[in-house]
Amino acid sequence: MSLASRKAAARVLQEVYANRSTVDDALETHQTQLPPEQRPWVRSACFETLRYLPSIRASWQQHVKKKPTDPLALAILDLGTVQIQHLKTPPWAAVNETVTLTRALKKPHLSGLVNSVLRKIAKNPLLPTHLHNEETRWNHPKWWIKKLQQQWPKHWQAILQANNHKAPFWLRHNRQVPAALPALQKACPEARQHPHIASAWCIDPRPVASIPGFEAGHFSVQDAHAQRAAPLLDPHNGERILDACAAPGGKAGHLWEQAPQAEITAIDVQAHRLSRVGENLRRLQANINGTPVEVRALNMAKPNQWPPDWGAGAVFDRILLDVPCSASGVVRRHPDIKYLRQAGDIAAITRQQKDILEASTRLLKPGGHLLYATCSVFDEENGQQVAHFLSRHPEFEAETLSLPGGVSRQHGVQLLPEIHGGDGFYYALLKKRGHG
Ligand SMILES: C[S@@+](CC[C@H](N)C(=O)[O-])C[C@H]1O[C@@H](n2cnc3c(N)ncnc32)[C@H](O)[C@@H]1O
Repeated sequence: MSLASRKAAARVLQEVYANRSTVDDALETHQTQLPPEQRPWVRSACFETLRYLPSIRASWQQHVKKKPTDPLALAILDLGTVQIQHLKTPPWAAVNETVTLTRALKKPHLSGLVNSVLRKIAKNPLLPTHLHNEETRWNHPKWWIKKLQQQWPKHWQAILQANNHKAPFWLRHNRQVPAALPALQKACPEARQHPHIASAWCIDPRPVASIPGFEAGHFSVQDAHAQRAAPLLDPHNGERILDACAAPGGKAGHLWEQAPQAEITAIDVQAHRLSRVGENLRRLQANINGTPVEVRALNMAKPNQWPPDWGAGAVFDRILLDVPCSASGVVRRHPDIKYLRQAGDIAAITRQQKDILEASTRLLKPGGHLLYATCSVFDEENGQQVAHFLSRHPEFEAETLSLPGGVSRQHGVQLLPEIHGGDGFYYALLKKRGHG
């Protein structure tokens, strides 16, 4: 791979380490100068580094007396190591090219250290057993492993294993267009349908433009377990539906596919992310008649900023509340989360979820349903959040949910990340007592 790609990858990791940027944001900043064909390598090098960071760090740290603290030096050593251990770079090329990289990044004083450390790893790539601990064995932070052991005593190992795999590429088929399937199966003979989720098809990763029917809105990219949301909420034509945390619009699009004549309102607090919702919906709606979705920027936790016609509440028949969360269920798509998230963040996240939940539920008509959703496997954000809500709100009850492949909880159902299946999602369906 080119020197420019290696420089870009080192800068991306430096930015994640130094500024706690997400890897996606850092990639956007640092790979714009690169030709498109070089970008997948940069992405893969950064993702694999972050996926295996604890064992990568332990591997090179065993060979240094004093651990460097400069984020760029860490990035260079991590990148050299990931190429030997997890990418298909021939080890000696990884050594030589990482030494060249130190000079290109104006860190020539590191070249001796990088050379000697990486040569040792090239000779013995695996971290010796006696240097392993829980963090390096599972490549997750200690607090995360402990939480899963407590909350998922039977499943924690499977969850951690799935988190460390690359995510499969799932499409959602718009089931209103059954005629779209043969073209997909012809272009992607490897396509396999999810055993329990009829709309979900797994294919080998490829540019979306090459998927027949993508531009026409017959297929969308969406994780298999995310495709559970719209059918669980079960929208009907003619109803008023609120998607209260909608960006980038994956689930809003699915709601529309299920009930194109419903009056759907899609909200997000981040106005700049709403353009993605608009793009997604335009693609879906271009060729199928239906009621246009209303898209607006709004803070759901601040009722004083809501439109006047919402003032009295009881406006919507159904509400999808796909709240911001720790994203602990989608680690394989965002391995930087394991590095960026701290144990103490969970309390702040659950407060934010509670505020949005409390405010949104007043918008539900009596007899209406609200689907509370997270892409988390942590119980504080899921079952505990819903149990606390129900204890404060006797006017709500949780519907029993049972899904093949899911783990039924006291309230709601947890879908765990699966190596060949979907991501980790939690769903609880809350009904407001009374009649609309
Ligand atoms: C998990 S994402 C939603 C994903 C989306 N439902 C989909 O399927 O594409 C959560 C979203 O909640 C939004 N959000 C966070 N706080 C909010 C608030 N107070 N009001 C409205 N939206 C909020 C975030 O900007 C983010 O886009």
